[in-house]
Amino acid sequence: MCGIVGVLGKHEVSPIILDALKRLEYRGYDSAGIATVNRGQLDRRRAVGKLINLSDTLVHEPLPGRAGIGHTRWATHGGPSVANAHPHQAGRVAVVHNGIIENFRALREELAAAGAHFSSETDTETIVQLASHYLDQGLTPVQAARATLKRLEGAFALAFLFEGEEDLIVCARRGSPLCIGHGEGEMYLGSDAIALGELTDRITYLEEGDWAILTRSGLQVFDAEDQQTSRPMTRINAAQARVDKSGHRHFMAKEMAEQPAVLKAAMEAYAGAGSEALDLPEGLDFTSADRLIMVACGTAYYACQVAKYWFEQFAGLPVEIDIASEYRYRAPVLGAANMALFVSQSGETADTLAALRHVAPHVGQVVAVVNVPTSSIAREASVVLPIHAGPEIGVASTKAFTAQLQVLALLALQAGLARGRLSAEDYRARLSELRAAPGFVAQALDREEEIRRMTEVLAKARDVLFLGRGVMYPLALEGALKLKEISYIHAEAHAAGELKHGPIALIDEDLPVIVFAPHDALFEKTVSNMQEVMARQGKVLLISDARGLVEAGDVPFTLQMPTVPDLIAPIVYAVPAQLIAYHTALHRGTDVDQPRNLAKSVTVE
Ligand code: AGP
Repeated sequence: MCGIVGVLGKHEVSPIILDALKRLEYRGYDSAGIATVNRGQLDRRRAVGKLINLSDTLVHEPLPGRAGIGHTRWATHGGPSVANAHPHQAGRVAVVHNGIIENFRALREELAAAGAHFSSETDTETIVQLASHYLDQGLTPVQAARATLKRLEGAFALAFLFEGEEDLIVCARRGSPLCIGHGEGEMYLGSDAIALGELTDRITYLEEGDWAILTRSGLQVFDAEDQQTSRPMTRINAAQARVDKSGHRHFMAKEMAEQPAVLKAAMEAYAGAGSEALDLPEGLDFTSADRLIMVACGTAYYACQVAKYWFEQFAGLPVEIDIASEYRYRAPVLGAANMALFVSQSGETADTLAALRHVAPHVGQVVAVVNVPTSSIAREASVVLPIHAGPEIGVASTKAFTAQLQVLALLALQAGLARGRLSAEDYRARLSELRAAPGFVAQALDREEEIRRMTEVLAKARDVLFLGRGVMYPLALEGALKLKEISYIHAEAHAAGELKHGPIALIDEDLPVIVFAPHDALFEKTVSNMQEVMARQGKVLLISDARGLVEAGDVPFTLQMPTVPDLIAPIVYAVPAQLIAYHTALHRGTDVDQPRNLAKSVTVE
């Protein structure tokens, strides 16, 4: 997704803004730009591709000025080009924008009819043309910005910079996050606190509908009704804003390696010092819930699919799960006794946020399991459970997935205990199994070199099939997603039992088939499906434990996982899914941390 930055500085801002944009690279982008005001003059530099190209442009055509705004663009309306790159400028005003202006076509027609000339295909250009139009009508910069905001429909985080105004940025938040940084005689703004991590740890998060006036001496915030208000300034810790690779080749590698520590932190956060009673936030009531609705996207959705088994098995709670982008377009039946639970690493996924807003007025409890407690989804939920995974920068979600599973498993056990479906003894046994997850994940990570060697063959494949049963079916889905999103190999997953209902037609000697099958209650059935594949010359990689590999007999490729309790198998088997994707992508030379076309936080629907 796009990233925006603004700086009212005491020094030249172009290099500062460029560094801040680099900290937003993880969001995914395909062009970038900076605008500054210098001696009253507004000017800008823009470039397609990675920030290094913008940096080159700035070397050959310096951009002086101590007030500026910057942007990394993930193309929505109009392809990646200099003309479509932000900042957009019209007359005496420039704008950077993250989001989608839904009424941009009507505005564009209105402005063109009034004589405006457009130079891009973007929705964003209507914002700056509108502001310029209001300036030409004699409004002040702040009045012009405010009048413009009132005409916009859709989602945006945006910032205005004005000719002649070297101590003014006007910004606004509606549907996309925006935070303000407080410096010493300087002020900053960014799409998230990570962007400002090198500049300040004093952050003010704008609320939904807020707009704000920044000057070097301070911040004025106005709510959606134009009433001046105040928002708290918080101090973020350095770790929250740190985005380095800690010696790893990629963020994804670092984040996979962090998983044992992250899982331990998540456990400590909710069941610290070996306590049995979980330290859960107020307002979580499983006894009154008659149904659990879980909604998410992508990897977070697969975590919900795994958790569905746990809530039904341990708590006897009926569970309905849905992909967020589909959910509100059917007519979901909702009731006051329902609990709705939204899972999101970023907490900013537009589809998931929209589903939450759709559901919230109709259900009794709205719960968010997120990695960013200050995110939009967290702010709008009634109960928030952070997963304590730390910043996840790689576009491919890894540590957030296993941490989501850990927290969802804790919730399922708590639900079972609260609803009298899980005995105290079984609860304690399952809790101790979760406490052991970090160690088993570390053992799974130790198979990396063996996996790296296996993926040399996989990297040559055109298609790959993943299979699993029970909780291993969502793992197969996650493995297929990981592989396709970073190696660009077509991969799909099926419930192993579904193979004979069609997908088995795909099997031939060129198709690698990866089977997740710990020795659990479904092992025999999964292995018989695997043998159907081998009987048709399919190239099988069986991922199982020692007992499973012995009982499965002769299989072309095998990978041994530690023998683990059923409850934590999805957490442990996520590791080979991640490592297979990572090393296959390395063999193929793709951009592991910022794969093509993808963004870390999808803040548009
Ligand atoms: C996962 O590897 C992908 N990057 C993507 O599917 C992601 O899980 C999805 O966009 C949901 O993101 P969220 O958890 O931030 O809501």
